Amino acid sequence: MGKVEELEKLKREMEADKSLPLLGTANLVFGEGKPDAEVMFIGEGPGFHEDRLVRPFVGQAGKLLDKLLADIKWPRESVYITNIVKRRPPENRDPLPEEIEAYKPYLTRQIKIINPKMIVALGRFAMAYFLPNAKISRDHAAPSEVLTKEGKTILVVPLYHPAAALRSTQVLKELEEDFKKLPELLKNSQSVVPKPVFAPKLPPQASLF
Ligand code: URA
Repeated sequence: MGKVEELEKLKREMEADKSLPLLGTANLVFGEGKPDAEVMFIGEGPGFHEDRLVRPFVGQAGKLLDKLLADIKWPRESVYITNIVKRRPPENRDPLPEEIEAYKPYLTRQIKIINPKMIVALGRFAMAYFLPNAKISRDHAAPSEVLTKEGKTILVVPLYHPAAALRSTQVLKELEEDFKKLPELLKNSQSVVPKPVFAPKLPPQASLF
């Protein structure tokens, strides 16, 4: 089975899983992009516009994400975009720990299918999912190696959430600067020998997914 079919199958399984939270109130926003993307962008959860259009990052934060991607010559179609929680929490409240936990096995499988070299975690919740000890103000753009259950290493780079950048010009400036670092981080993540030239600021994390 190819990746497109595998992702379709996973989506159908999610739709059929009546135990998933937020089922009664919102659409399943599975994710979209290149099935074999080298980079996955993972946000917190769908908002109003995402729920309405059943696509991730299509509101104001999504427009900013598109622009930041275009600025580094990574068209939206060249990456994969999804969220930790795949249904909109009511009134855009923060996702609850049990909601994050319930969607986790599906996100794990989605990551395994796409098999990215790098995951860009957008905002506090996505960051904490992969890097529980990180702090966004301190660790934004700091790459960390995260081990999968299969023993594969994925580079996780936490960034400020685009919605936070829409509320603060200082955060926007930092997010723009951080985005410019992504192509180089990706290149370094691909070098096998010698070891990557950058030194991750954070120690390798335990196997998290
Ligand atoms: N914010 C998110 O975290 N995800 C989206 O898809 C949209 C806004």
